[in-house]
Amino acid sequence: MAKDGNTSAADFLPDRLDLDALRSAAACCEGCGLYRNATQTVFGEGPRQARFMLVGEQPGDQEDRQGHPFVGPAGRVLDKGLAEAGIARDDVYVTNAVKHFSFTLRGKRRIHQKPTAAEIEACHPWLDAELAVVAPRVVVVLGATAARALLGREFRVTRSRGEPVPLGDALAVATIHPSAVLRAPDRDAAYAGFLADLQAAARAA
Ligand code: URA
Ligand code: SF4
Repeated sequence: MAKDGNTSAADFLPDRLDLDALRSAAACCEGCGLYRNATQTVFGEGPRQARFMLVGEQPGDQEDRQGHPFVGPAGRVLDKGLAEAGIARDDVYVTNAVKHFSFTLRGKRRIHQKPTAAEIEACHPWLDAELAVVAPRVVVVLGATAARALLGREFRVTRSRGEPVPLGDALAVATIHPSAVLRAPDRDAAYAGFLADLQAAARAA
């Protein structure tokens, strides 16, 4: 039970902290209400020795169906940015602040809904455990939800993006979410800024 008496992922953490144990425990998490309507928990993926940990918001529609993080349109932007910033895929652990898809139904369409502050908090023990096990050198914070989860409510991505800031034993570098690149009126400019931040993350490592 979390300190305030609400349920959270803390109730479902395994005794043994390694990635396999965490992943199987998270598959049964009922730490907030999001498990009810989503297809499955989408846990982080990547090598335990990764120097980079990338943290997004939550799985989207494709991720929810396939069970892997960043496999939809946002993932394609991310993969392109990583390749162009010279960050190797096998040096990257990818995860999300919230591990279940949150959506509202519009007819048959599932419309992504931002996770609430309570859901971000409830899911935080998984992210903390991933950080403890992977112990990355650089944490790339993708967008406002991940920034809120890792850097606090006062942090503003727009103001401080691309600047390494201490996060435990690691350095965090924030940037916009790859979905925001896709939604931007000037996509090329948004992508260029995103890439510049990933290059700053590469230098910080
Ligand atoms: N957006 C995210 O924040 N994470 C994903 O895994 C996919 C889309
Ligand atoms: Fe557990 Fe996080 Fe899923 Fe909520 S979103 S049920 S806390 S894994």
